[in-house]
Amino acid sequence: MVLLARPEEFSPAMLAELDATLDSEDRTYTQRFLGQRRTQAVVGRCLARLALGKYFSCSPGSWRFGVDPMGKPVVVSPLRGAAHFNISHTTGLVACAAASSPVGLDVEDSSRELISEAVATAVLAPAELAGMGRLPQPSRQRQAYRLWALKEAYVKGIGIGLRAPAAEIGFDLQKGRPRLNPGAPGTGEPNTWSFWSLEPTRSHVLALALKDGGAGHEGVRIEWVCPSAIPAPAHRHERWGGLST
Ligand SMILES: CC(C)(COP(=O)(O)OP(=O)(O)OC[C@H]1O[C@@H](n2cnc3c(N)ncnc32)[C@H](O)[C@@H]1OP(=O)(O)O)[C@@H](O)C(=O)NCCC(=O)NCCS
Repeated sequence: MVLLARPEEFSPAMLAELDATLDSEDRTYTQRFLGQRRTQAVVGRCLARLALGKYFSCSPGSWRFGVDPMGKPVVVSPLRGAAHFNISHTTGLVACAAASSPVGLDVEDSSRELISEAVATAVLAPAELAGMGRLPQPSRQRQAYRLWALKEAYVKGIGIGLRAPAAEIGFDLQKGRPRLNPGAPGTGEPNTWSFWSLEPTRSHVLALALKDGGAGHEGVRIEWVCPSAIPAPAHRHERWGGLST
């Protein structure tokens, strides 16, 4: 499942309250950041608790997070190794996916600066570039962002982050759900990942990568979270608990 929130809906007072709902490890992490980045980090951690809580029917307050050796945030307890999440943020959107297998998520603001031809050539696979060339001009930017988000979701799913050569990770968007072309780094057995490419708002693209054996059976449940759905600290045990049911 994927939870989405609009960070601009969170007032400074609300953010301070949210910060207080986090555990000490989360708070140590979020306090490294300032301004908009801090908002993204706090809202992201809260969404992670809510998404995991809803998906696994556990209290949102019960989750403890750490990082794996590649730097990917992971669940330490409960359900270590069985509960997975991934956070992404961009201007105007914070998102978190929760799943029972490794997952990667990326959201992009597709209304921001255009992706130049030089950048597209550097990060897109030859078949992706050729496919884009066949589209009418107004659709090309959106397509470039969709492809970029899929690559990011995949590298975040496998946890290798910046170490991935983007142009070697090619996607086919021709029919149905996106398909990862053979030969991408980290695939292991072919077709072990399923992908979704969605447009949650007019100016955002969202990509999800799920290591489900390639089954793709699960539909993606997407829900928007408004600030009032997140508990204030004075009630957090009671209300975090209440949200899990
Ligand atoms: C860490 C990284 C994955 C974040 O990507 P980003 O697009 O800048 O940011 P996003 O908003 O999508 O994701 C940020 C979140 O990813 C999570 N994250 C951090 N490191 C991660 C990793 N190694 N793997 C997966 N997720 C990671 C964190 O939860 C972070 O949010 P938080 O710090 O608020 O908790 C980035 O440093 C990176 O390596 N990006 C890949 C760049 C690249 O090579 N792209 C080419 C596509 S192949």
